[in-house]
Amino acid sequence: MTPNSTVQNSASIVIRDISGPAEMRAVEQLQKDVWGLPDLDVVPLTQLVAATAAGGVLIGAFDGGSLAGFAYGFVGLENGRATLHSHMLAVEHKYRNLNIGYRLKLAQRDLALAHGLNEMTWTFDPLQGLNAHFNFNRLGVVSDRYFLDFYGSDAASFLHRNGTDRLWVTWPLASRRVEERIAGMPSGAFFENAVSIVEVSADGYPLEHELTEATNETVAIEIPGRVDEVEKQSPELASKWRMATRRAFTAAISKGYVVDGFTRGEGGSNKSGSYHLTRGRALRDLE
Ligand SMILES: CC(C)(COP(=O)(O)OP(=O)(O)OC[C@H]1O[C@@H](n2cnc3c(N)ncnc32)[C@H](O)[C@@H]1OP(=O)(O)O)[C@@H](O)C(=O)NCCC(=O)NCCS
Repeated sequence: MTPNSTVQNSASIVIRDISGPAEMRAVEQLQKDVWGLPDLDVVPLTQLVAATAAGGVLIGAFDGGSLAGFAYGFVGLENGRATLHSHMLAVEHKYRNLNIGYRLKLAQRDLALAHGLNEMTWTFDPLQGLNAHFNFNRLGVVSDRYFLDFYGSDAASFLHRNGTDRLWVTWPLASRRVEERIAGMPSGAFFENAVSIVEVSADGYPLEHELTEATNETVAIEIPGRVDEVEKQSPELASKWRMATRRAFTAAISKGYVVDGFTRGEGGSNKSGSYHLTRGRALRDLE
């Protein structure tokens, strides 16, 4: 196999703890490979050692002796409850779409539960539809927090070209919702009555609709397809998308909606999917 060729199956991949300086150096390198991070933005070995010694979780997907992916989380606090905050999940390009990211999340969940932690949190860019699908449909997260430029506006990876707004998601590890999702049960078709407060227009622009008191119990926020391409080809359009979705998420969350699902767009459509938001239910009721 040439160094950049795609790996065809993951039968030989083993998920296990990452330990010792050599394996942690490989985690530093993988961060650079996956996100293109400069040295200053890499989470270094010393931080990995300290966070894992203090109860964090650092696990890798190993192909023989080489690191194909990793998940890294440190202990956090949410309303007085200890959680695992999963700061990074990455799979090297040639190992993508082999379920390795998913296996890493499940292993991370097992370890968190074994440590007595019932909740995991992390953040992701809500314009990334593949990540939204992974988080809401495959894993069963919920969200009631949106951060403006979470890492500042000039953070350096390719995921940060269009600012660093993030949805903060909660993964209620022992909930029925999560059990069902990881057993492969679909989240249910609950979009019929949702009013879209952001739509993708025929020419790929965001169309915004005001969220009023009369707006439905359930609303939807659509996002465009292939946002990475949009960011490369038209930073101006990407920025319009950032601002429209930022306004919609912050308005809805401030009015008591929680983000509880994501439906992927039809193949060939110019939207990658729609978030689903429900009003009047606390985050914990959705568990
Ligand atoms: C996200 C990531 C870890 C997924 O790893 P992976 O091993 O390819 O994922 P899996 O094979 O387990 O796929 C799980 C699901 O993730 C989805 N997915 C999420 N992000 C994806 C991406 N960037 N590329 C391809 N698929 C992605 C897939 O659609 C798949 O769902 P499906 O099988 O129902 O279609 C990997 O793409 C990656 O390292 N991306 C860059 C870093 C990143 O975005 N980290 C997560 C931030 S929240």
